[in-house]
Amino acid sequence: MMQLYAGTASQALGKKIAEQLGQPLGIIPMHRFSDGELYPQFKGSVKGAHVCLIQSTYPPADHLMELLLTIDAAKQAGASAVTVVAPYLGYMRQDRAHHTGGSIGAQLQANLLAAAGAGRLITCDLHAQHIVDFFDFPVAHLTSAPVFIPYIQSLQLSRLTFVAPDSGSVARTKQYAQYFGVPLVLCKKRKAGPNQVADIQVQGEVGGTDAIIIDDMVDTGGTICLAAQHLKAQGARTVLAFCTHAVLSGYAHSRLASAGLDELVVTDAIPLRQDFPQVKVCSVAPFIARALQQCS
Ligand code: R5P
Repeated sequence: MMQLYAGTASQALGKKIAEQLGQPLGIIPMHRFSDGELYPQFKGSVKGAHVCLIQSTYPPADHLMELLLTIDAAKQAGASAVTVVAPYLGYMRQDRAHHTGGSIGAQLQANLLAAAGAGRLITCDLHAQHIVDFFDFPVAHLTSAPVFIPYIQSLQLSRLTFVAPDSGSVARTKQYAQYFGVPLVLCKKRKAGPNQVADIQVQGEVGGTDAIIIDDMVDTGGTICLAAQHLKAQGARTVLAFCTHAVLSGYAHSRLASAGLDELVVTDAIPLRQDFPQVKVCSVAPFIARALQQCS
């Protein structure tokens, strides 16, 4: 049987996944040096075991460092295999050399996880599908559709339209439009820099519709808030946004409060660290637990 552990970034989610599996959640023995350096030490409890480490790598970067050290500690202590459950992986927006001299952070993180000793990864809604190819071990790339779709159905919206707020969201948004058999509306997003949206043009008819924006993440809220403003200005009667990863940094709070979004639906891949009005959280725990059952 797999031994389950959750790092400090994903304690609440780890408990939910363990509950779904009817298994205990182990405690990672973690020491901290005076300067803040982490030192996990398993002391033989994982010898010969298949260890599962649950940890999203949202900021600060210590969450990633903690995960790498814990994988290494498990391997050093004789674990036969380590499966990493990182529903949110940070640094995935650096997925290609956008500009000469830029880093490819997604590739680097894949290399670091492999070097630490990870043998398998379960993750959700990566920024782009091709990131999976950066990993030289098996990756289960899940989508939050199994929790978002039933919630959308429960809303009983009669004139659904799915909106891709930028070109990177088209493939995942199209799957929702096809599932519900309703129109897909594309947006053309022009960026002025990281987290800076210069302009969004809605390219399709949204008058009188219940528009649902689908995105992998909401960070400063610039993308979904500007898209929502344009959709409302063009006559959408309801605008909701479904974003798997609630990064929610910078101006997110004030933007979301004034954007005219009727609801923002996120998951617990990243825990909400602040109270956000109009935000509903769906849990990824049930479908992650199913994925773990399949690989154990
Ligand atoms: C962009 O390519 C991503 O899919 C998101 O749309 C973007 O990162 C969200 O960031 P923000 O909320 O700061 O606009």
